Amino acid sequence: MKIKKAVIPVAGKGTRFLPATKEIPKEMIPILNKPMISIVVEEAVNAGITEIIFVNSRGKECIENYFDRNLHLENFLKEADKNDQELLIKDIGSKVEILSVRQKEQLGLGHAINCARPLIGDEPFAVLLGDDIMEGEVPGIKQLIDKYEELSCSGVIGLFEVPKSETSKYGIIDGEKKTEGLFKLNAMVEKPMPKDAPSNLAVPGRYVFDSEIFDFLDKIPRGVGGEYQLTDAIELMAKEREIYGAILEGTRFDTGSMEGYLEATIAYASRDEKLKQVIVDSIKKYI
Ligand code: G1P
Repeated sequence: MKIKKAVIPVAGKGTRFLPATKEIPKEMIPILNKPMISIVVEEAVNAGITEIIFVNSRGKECIENYFDRNLHLENFLKEADKNDQELLIKDIGSKVEILSVRQKEQLGLGHAINCARPLIGDEPFAVLLGDDIMEGEVPGIKQLIDKYEELSCSGVIGLFEVPKSETSKYGIIDGEKKTEGLFKLNAMVEKPMPKDAPSNLAVPGRYVFDSEIFDFLDKIPRGVGGEYQLTDAIELMAKEREIYGAILEGTRFDTGSMEGYLEATIAYASRDEKLKQVIVDSIKKYI
């Protein structure tokens, strides 16, 4: 079955970006002039996704509004002869259907994904976490969709290699190497200390599952941090079904952290000649 739907959890509090996230959803913080969520949605659209399901929470409605039309602003721009800008904002939500569901309590990533169950039904689907921006010739999530279709398995999760000292920041897999960059999952652990980590293969927040993952999400107890962890459901599922991990090709920006956010901003700015010069001049001046 073709993968047409993607779940993007956006209900988190974004505490790493306080005080900005006191009033602005973290997902709406821009890299230059584009909200981070817009970049993640573009990745999904470029991978052939036609329906996005946001798992949202109270106070973050502006994420859905961003993908809606704003006729008042469009008319204003039209009358002011600002046609490029009018087209720019008209285009935002035009290529994809946006649906949303509420996560009434923030009980973890596993719980958030489970909230999307009524809108997924029995179709396979993609999951993208907004904390990572993935860039590559082939969009990150498309690499996983292609592998899922090729292997006809129950799920494929994205991987990247991390230094052992950083395993406690990610879900880490225990896998059996099948071919270059492809591993069959035996187990998965959420944020293990380096000494307990089964490998240095971490999950950057890109997944593809068939709908059976929901049955496993129903079975898990609270895990690390007292939250329902997606990792624990994957671990259970891997014991009974075939799940693969695929190393993602391309560049990853960890925009959930201040360092990754800054790096992404510089990378994006460097693609514009004028802004690139500003970076060079600023470094000379301030560093
Ligand atoms: C979540 C997942 C973790 C994954 C990470 C990627 O953790 O639980 O397995 O590696 O996203 O960003 P979080 O960063 O939300 O704590």
